[in-house]
Amino acid sequence: MSAPSASLQPVAASAPGKLILCGEHAVVYGCPAIALPLASVRAHVQVAPGTAGSGMHIAAPDLGSAWSVQQQPDNPLSELVQAALSRLGCAPGGLPDLTMTIRSNIPIAGGMGSGAAVATAIVRALVAASGVELAPAEVSALVYRCEQRYHGTPSGIDNTVIAYEQAIWFVRQQPAPLIEPVAIAAPFRLVIGDTGVRSETRLPVGEVRRRWQADPKAFEALFAEVQQVVTQIRAALASGRLAQVGPLLDANQSLLEQIGVSSPELEHLVAAARQAGAAGAKLSGAGWGGVMLALVDEQCSGSVAAALRQAGAAQVLETLVQ
Ligand code: PMV
Repeated sequence: MSAPSASLQPVAASAPGKLILCGEHAVVYGCPAIALPLASVRAHVQVAPGTAGSGMHIAAPDLGSAWSVQQQPDNPLSELVQAALSRLGCAPGGLPDLTMTIRSNIPIAGGMGSGAAVATAIVRALVAASGVELAPAEVSALVYRCEQRYHGTPSGIDNTVIAYEQAIWFVRQQPAPLIEPVAIAAPFRLVIGDTGVRSETRLPVGEVRRRWQADPKAFEALFAEVQQVVTQIRAALASGRLAQVGPLLDANQSLLEQIGVSSPELEHLVAAARQAGAAGAKLSGAGWGGVMLALVDEQCSGSVAAALRQAGAAQVLETLVQ
């Protein structure tokens, strides 16, 4: 590719947030998990040509941060930009004169994949600017390396569901993860409640690792139970037996509590959703904060959303999964 600045028109790209329906944490240890794209919240990146010789700048005005890739080459997003440009055929050292502006309405450290969505939107924007095609698997691989910089040992589920932008069954394995589409025979509705508590993914993930190392037998038994629940949820979704899904989500929540990644704030919202008529509810993502999800039908979705607000949720979203 010629340096993207040469013929660049302003381009824009975006990427969705994500929700882990079931299987978080156990997925780090090779068990399956199901993840969904969350189209109602997105990260957006605009690319505009800079003046000749200005170099490459990244700005996140909502966070009050801006930097030059040349001056901060070790910033994980600078590294991502350089890796993406190199994959797109931009000559090493020949960074184009560009300004990338990031905006996102995905809560940071809230379990909705904010970091992976921003990184995916950056790669998609560079792809659009270059005119070169990149398959979702390649976008996902670039974003995975960026996720490793932030989280240490991510399973890869966030970058995968966001880059593919479809419901996936994900199993971390070597040499490459197993990624399959999830069949959804009957659309279903989720209400998402944000505790407003921000928790970095690597903290509960690190704590689970320590506990697993201290008592591998107990933790592997818990992970095996999660695997059973996730497998049953997949089968229920594929056959449209939604009545089975709620209790399975509750079972997954109980296992996450035993794994040690729930919190009083999450459990308060989970209880409020169940009392308001949700068929099942659980935390979603790394836990200790962030979001929970509740399976609802059309009749009770309004009252579950109201109950979550009443119980102190910082934000409430609803999504129809189909
Ligand atoms: O990115 P989060 O916070 O939604 O959670 C990631 C899910 C985990 O299973 C806890 C970690 C991982 O890498 O899969």
